[in-house]
Amino acid sequence: MRSPLAGLAAAVGGALALLGCQPSLPPPPAQPIVFSHRIHAGKAGIGCTSCHGFAERGPVAGIPSMQRCEGCHKFVREDPASKEITAQIGVLRAILAQGTVIEWARVHRLPDHVYFTHERHVAAGIRCQECHGEVEQMEVMHQVSPLTMGWCIACHKRKIAEHPAGRAHLLDCWNCHK
Ligand code: HEC
Ligand code: HEC
Ligand code: HEC
Ligand code: HEC
Ligand code: HEC
Repeated sequence: MRSPLAGLAAAVGGALALLGCQPSLPPPPAQPIVFSHRIHAGKAGIGCTSCHGFAERGPVAGIPSMQRCEGCHKFVREDPASKEITAQIGVLRAILAQGTVIEWARVHRLPDHVYFTHERHVAAGIRCQECHGEVEQMEVMHQVSPLTMGWCIACHKRKIAEHPAGRAHLLDCWNCHK
């Protein structure tokens, strides 16, 4: 049975959620050119790790190189149904022709004292979307999870409850603070 206090806390939490009082997330930074995940990962159906392959192999997921963009955009030069998309591809092709490198602004950033690694989470079967939201619907990439210590620990606790063997250390300070 739930205690009256838990009921009260849930009611207050619910009321705050209704009022939209969630901890505020950083707004998306300005990017040098338009790049739509909805079009690439959604409409064109390109897999996440086809552009962010290091997520399976190491701490950092990585941002695709200009060569990776060029590999497709040598051939993908227009969208016959959209002048706007064709114009945006034109902007990219001009940059590729000049040979300059696009400096994407970083969207997610943990403080330096925190250790996070993609590899272990991806290997444990956690989908990108569980932490990054429905990216394939995002016109502009933005942060959807708070990335606070409480957020990391809440999931680690859930995962220990689901499957305790070999996971007790997931709550140790040194696991996330090296
Ligand atoms: C065609 C290549 C491509 C595909 C496919 C792609 N991405 Fe990206 N992704 C990028 C580029 C380029 C950026 C940097 C520009 C931006 O932030 O929009 C980026 C940025 C991101 C970021 C933010 C990085 C930061 O700075 O914090 C996340 C998170 C991300 N992608 C997740 C995903 C997920 C999840 C999928 C699959 C649903 C996916 N991406 C599919 C190219 C791609
Ligand atoms: C695997 C193939 C592939 C790769 C890799 C790829 N693109 Fe695309 N891109 C496409 C396709 C296909 C379209 C057109 C989709 C449509 O019109 O429905 C497109 C459309 C675009 C557009 C216009 C729509 C939009 O997103 O605003 C831009 C700009 C663009 N790509 C930039 C990039 C950049 C920058 C990179 C490298 C980080 C990149 N693309 C990598 C396949 C790719
Ligand atoms: C368990 C949660 C979690 C999962 C699952 C996850 N990410 Fe992340 N991602 C993060 C966090 C936290 C950061 C910020 C890391 C930092 O600042 O050191 C991040 C940062 C990124 C970045 C920008 C920095 C970098 O590492 O290059 C990209 C790109 C990215 N994620 C893509 C992906 C993709 C693609 C997947 C799925 C293959 C994925 N992420 C799965 C939590 C997650
Ligand atoms: C959606 C659930 C989820 C979230 C959110 C999450 N983790 Fe994890 N994390 C896991 C799981 C599950 C594992 C264990 C994987 C395994 O059993 O190998 C793990 C493992 C790790 C490991 C590797 C531990 C080892 O054995 O070496 C580190 C480090 C880590 N997490 C840090 C973080 C940090 C820091 C954050 C927040 C920024 C975070 N995690 C957020 C689910 C999550
Ligand atoms: C599962 C990962 C994880 C574990 C375990 C963890 N932390 Fe953290 N910790 C984080 C993240 C992520 C941040 C940065 C975001 C934030 O401040 O909420 C952080 C921030 C902090 C900060 C800085 C807070 C601030 O206001 O700047 C301190 C101090 C700290 N942790 C101490 C600890 C101690 C002590 C433990 C063990 C009892 C611990 N952490 C366990 C992930 C973790």
